[in-house]
Amino acid sequence: MNQDELKQAVAKAAVEYIAPRLNRDSIVGVGTGSTANFFIDLLAEHKAEFDGAVASSEATAERLKGHGIPVYDLNSANTLEFYVDGADETNERLELIKGGGGALTREKIVAAVAKTFICIADESKQVGVLGDFPLPVEVIPMARSYVARQIVKLGGDPVYREGFTTDNGNVILDIHNLDITRPIHVEEQLNNIVGVVTNGLFARRPADLLLLGTAEGVKSIP
Ligand code: A5P
Repeated sequence: MNQDELKQAVAKAAVEYIAPRLNRDSIVGVGTGSTANFFIDLLAEHKAEFDGAVASSEATAERLKGHGIPVYDLNSANTLEFYVDGADETNERLELIKGGGGALTREKIVAAVAKTFICIADESKQVGVLGDFPLPVEVIPMARSYVARQIVKLGGDPVYREGFTTDNGNVILDIHNLDITRPIHVEEQLNNIVGVVTNGLFARRPADLLLLGTAEGVKSIP
């Protein structure tokens, strides 16, 4: 199977997992990216069985609406049973790097609200230690140079994602070569820099369930 087929397989597994657990009042949190897009397309087949969705990006909101799935503001959604999203990297504790698509802040907010965060990923995303994938950090534009200098002091090499603006009107620094052997500690250190909105480490709130697409089939972890 190629990478897209693995992504489709995990998207299908996620729909099969949540569909029987949804009811007419359920609102589903939906992530961003190519794996999440496969999930949205398959979830649409069940749209009569749940109320609607909360989107983690404008792109996801558009795709959901295109399928006729109602999209709610998070503030008007009392309960989110599930959040389903991809990842750029995952370790064995289901701590993640996310934000390759730049949607990390909204993704982290929706993940925080959801009772169960289901990560869907192909096996290329599984690593021993997080950090080969450059860690995205969303930054208030006027703080960009200051935050970059602070990141250098922490041992990372920040690269400005030029020409990219987040859905929140901010910029992204992608950190290369950062030691992420202690993900919770690094997540907190970065978030403590003034001007950082958030970073793409999901360690304080890891995934609850990983559906990993492998050549042998979809593995459910734990
Ligand atoms: C979006 O900002 C990201 O967090 C995505 O969830 C992540 O980049 C995974 O994307 P793919 O499913 O396209 O690999």
